[in-house]
Amino acid sequence: MVYKHTIKKTDFFTEIVEKHGYLMDHQECFDGIIRRLDESVQKLDSPIIEIGSNRGGSALSFMEIIKKNKKSNWLFCIDPYGNSEYNLEEKVISRSEYGNDRYRLATKHLFEFAYEEKINFSFFKMISEDFMNFVYPNLKIYDDGKVCKVEKFSFVFLDGRHDSSVLDKEISFFLNKIEIGGYLIIDDVNEPKLRRLESKFLAEGFEKNKDELLQRVRDIDEKTMKKEREYAKSANHAAC
Ligand SMILES: C[S@@+](CC[C@H](N)C(=O)[O-])C[C@H]1O[C@@H](n2cnc3c(N)ncnc32)[C@H](O)[C@@H]1O
Repeated sequence: MVYKHTIKKTDFFTEIVEKHGYLMDHQECFDGIIRRLDESVQKLDSPIIEIGSNRGGSALSFMEIIKKNKKSNWLFCIDPYGNSEYNLEEKVISRSEYGNDRYRLATKHLFEFAYEEKINFSFFKMISEDFMNFVYPNLKIYDDGKVCKVEKFSFVFLDGRHDSSVLDKEISFFLNKIEIGGYLIIDDVNEPKLRRLESKFLAEGFEKNKDELLQRVRDIDEKTMKKEREYAKSANHAAC
């Protein structure tokens, strides 16, 4: 008799994703993202930023990595919720599904975990542009009687408003605020050309390749919108 076994490969990172997956938008590739975070927090003590938290699953996974490494890096999450404007289609702005019920759900889980595990955590209920323009210039960390102005970050995860004009601003802003050995991760971008650019960045530095990166992000954004428009059209036809 032949028994067929399917061996599921699990490790610490995939287990974390499975544990918090029900609070995530999607789980694909997320173990890879937290592996990068693991690498950077082992070397760096500066804060971690997440733009766009939704139900809190991604930020909870980040906290697990901070806990695993027994580190005290601050985690800052930024999200306006409140069904704020979202570009579902080019030039068509509508209200997003991200309401304040999600804010209450996310912060419940995040603050509970942070309390139990003594994770340094702060939430900014606002759009990323307000954070960059008004909060960052005065952002300080208060730890052990010391006050420290935040200049750089060990890890930045961009998963907020998926709109190239906003993403442009976020990338330009954070690009020179990442520590050497840290990461800037842009979610929901799966493009071979963008991956090829990665090696150029490593060889020549970010600043030199910034314009090319921004152009790629704009192209990808346009392609995604085209696909979504086609999908919406076919869905309408199917409904008729
Ligand atoms: C794709 S979801 C985030 C998913 C989450 N990181 C995860 O992996 O489970 C996008 C989030 O971005 C937020 N958002 C929308 N516009 C934003 C903006 N201008 N700045 C920051 N966050 C924004 C939405 O409220 C929503 O919660």
